[in-house]
Amino acid sequence: MSLQISERGRQMPASPIRKLAPLADAAKKRGVRVLHLNIGQPDLETPAPMRRRLATAPSVLAYTPSGGTAECVASLQQYYRGHGLSLEANEIIVTTGGSEALLFALTACAGPGDEALVVEPFYTNYMAFATMAGVRLVPLRARAEDGFHLPPIEEWTRALTPRTRLVLLCNPNNPTGTVYRRDEVEAVAAFCRANGLFLVADEVYRELAYDGAKATSALDVEGAEELVVVTDSLSKRYSACGIRLGCLATRNRQVWDASLRMAQGRLSPPGLAQLVALGTSELGPDYEQELVKEYQRRRDVLYEGLSRLPGVFLLKPEGAFYFIARFPIGDSEDFASWLLSDFSHEGATVMVAPAPGFYATPGLGRDEVRIAYVLNEEDLEASVRVLAHALPAYRRARGLGAIEPARAAAEAR
Ligand SMILES: Cc1ncc(COP(=O)(O)O)c(C=O)c1O
Repeated sequence: MSLQISERGRQMPASPIRKLAPLADAAKKRGVRVLHLNIGQPDLETPAPMRRRLATAPSVLAYTPSGGTAECVASLQQYYRGHGLSLEANEIIVTTGGSEALLFALTACAGPGDEALVVEPFYTNYMAFATMAGVRLVPLRARAEDGFHLPPIEEWTRALTPRTRLVLLCNPNNPTGTVYRRDEVEAVAAFCRANGLFLVADEVYRELAYDGAKATSALDVEGAEELVVVTDSLSKRYSACGIRLGCLATRNRQVWDASLRMAQGRLSPPGLAQLVALGTSELGPDYEQELVKEYQRRRDVLYEGLSRLPGVFLLKPEGAFYFIARFPIGDSEDFASWLLSDFSHEGATVMVAPAPGFYATPGLGRDEVRIAYVLNEEDLEASVRVLAHALPAYRRARGLGAIEPARAAAEAR
């Protein structure tokens, strides 16, 4: 008898973001500088008060309580209070990154064969967590022309089936950079309440909203206390992806209890990471303001640079540190590979994430790429120069012809 792995194992998608890594490695071996616009790994230093906490590590690196140490939970409460969100200690569970919080939330709120509504394009790893939980993601399409804001509620209603259990909403959004308005978040919460659904809100980019905007937390929607489960992370806001620390926050007792039992099953979130997290309490209010300013400047460099290129279409990104842009390329998978294998300008090329990996519906996103701006301004300017030369060169290489001025003008609206 031959051994067979499980159906879930077979269905588990490979990360489309990491798929091009061998081509990037080969380009680097040839001496080409690869500017990484493809992945959300911030380049900023992890704040010193957090790093200093490592020196306070005890002599035994023991398990901690499954839901997190009292001190770590208290520091998260303090963080939420700073954002006008009041949470009790027993409404938070410390997790191994936002990733584990997502897995706990999906598993607690839905079962095998159940469905979750999600706006596409979406953070590609949702597919992995949904596959692990046996949950089917049902995509609702957001469009570039609307700045990827939420589709009307009628579309959500049409997507409902007896198996629908929850809505999964990422705000501010990866991959689109959209920050949903308060009325949008409230409308989704009302839709969830009316249809007996949970609202799993992934808010790992909470503070990254630009031009003076503030992202509305689902925890701040009146009357939605029972249905909201927030998943959160220290990775992005503190440039601390490697500590693997996040949390789940919910006022729903049953979801919290179920998640705590899952947390007990894996014993403990990382202890050293919880020590590091305590350093966040030493960061002044200007920490977040400076962070927002830094990413807004970077957003401006890329947005202004790219929106001037003929045939490129994007509306001004509103938050997080990503956006989806439409490029005049036809096939973004091929374009992203070509950039790494066949092109360089001033000794450099860029790595972008082809957008089809962020859609569940086959065929969508073929002329779109997702771009992350986690490089310094100089490198972002170099990236714009590379793309300005790459787009016409790619069209020539693939026999696509010049970009017609009419299309370029229409796209540049
Ligand atoms: C939208 C979103 N949610 C969750 C995560 C997971 O973050 P963590 O590093 O905390 O597991 C990411 C990471 O890129 C993300 O972009």
